Amino acid sequence: MDKVSRRNFFYLAVSLPLFPLHVYAKNGKNDDPKIDYFNTILILNQAFNAEMIAHKSYLGYIEKALVENHPNIAYMFHAFSFSEKIHADNYERIISNLGGKTKEVVVSLDIHDTKSNLKKAAEKELEKIIFFYPELLQKLESESCEEAIMNCMYSWKSHRQHEKKVKEIEKYSGSFFGSVANRIEKMDLDFHVCKICGSTIDVKPIAPCEICNRSLSHYKIVNRPTLLKK
Ligand SMILES: [Fe+2]
Ligand SMILES: [Fe+2]
Repeated sequence: MDKVSRRNFFYLAVSLPLFPLHVYAKNGKNDDPKIDYFNTILILNQAFNAEMIAHKSYLGYIEKALVENHPNIAYMFHAFSFSEKIHADNYERIISNLGGKTKEVVVSLDIHDTKSNLKKAAEKELEKIIFFYPELLQKLESESCEEAIMNCMYSWKSHRQHEKKVKEIEKYSGSFFGSVANRIEKMDLDFHVCKICGSTIDVKPIAPCEICNRSLSHYKIVNRPTLLKK
């Protein structure tokens, strides 16, 4: 099993379909959530920052892919940028509900050619799956803010979807990226993102969200991006 604890998996398995988003585990604590959830707010700020950086990086990758005439790859990046923003918005909302504030995100974008951007995207997604979220989830256990834990699990699972898709495309992109780009562009992609959890799928949904279990109506179709006029 990955580094995510058994406790979190157990919690997620039993609670996801039923748990209302606004409920917190108070455990008979202080009335001021800012005091009870001091560390949770700090940890969620880390997650918020990471998701905003990912969101903005993908926006940069979209532009580059379009300029390099890889519309399908740009479309995938667009879906991911949308998903990352949902994660960031979820953290911002929880932090605010807990009486905290998000800190300003300083982003230094690292945009290269599309081949390199795909590689970077795969690395970053994998890092979040293996290190970043398992560590955050472990740290969140001490204050047991259930909504924070649940949303980190949502993000962790969404990143697994992203990494799988990037790898699927990246495997064609070894040393002959140019010649296989056409193949990628022939792929029939139809991206939809769940507005609750950021779940990202590349076909029209026919069942409730595989991550948060919400109904089909929570999926939003992702439009194909176009180049910004300068
Ligand atoms: Fe994310
Ligand atoms: Fe969902």
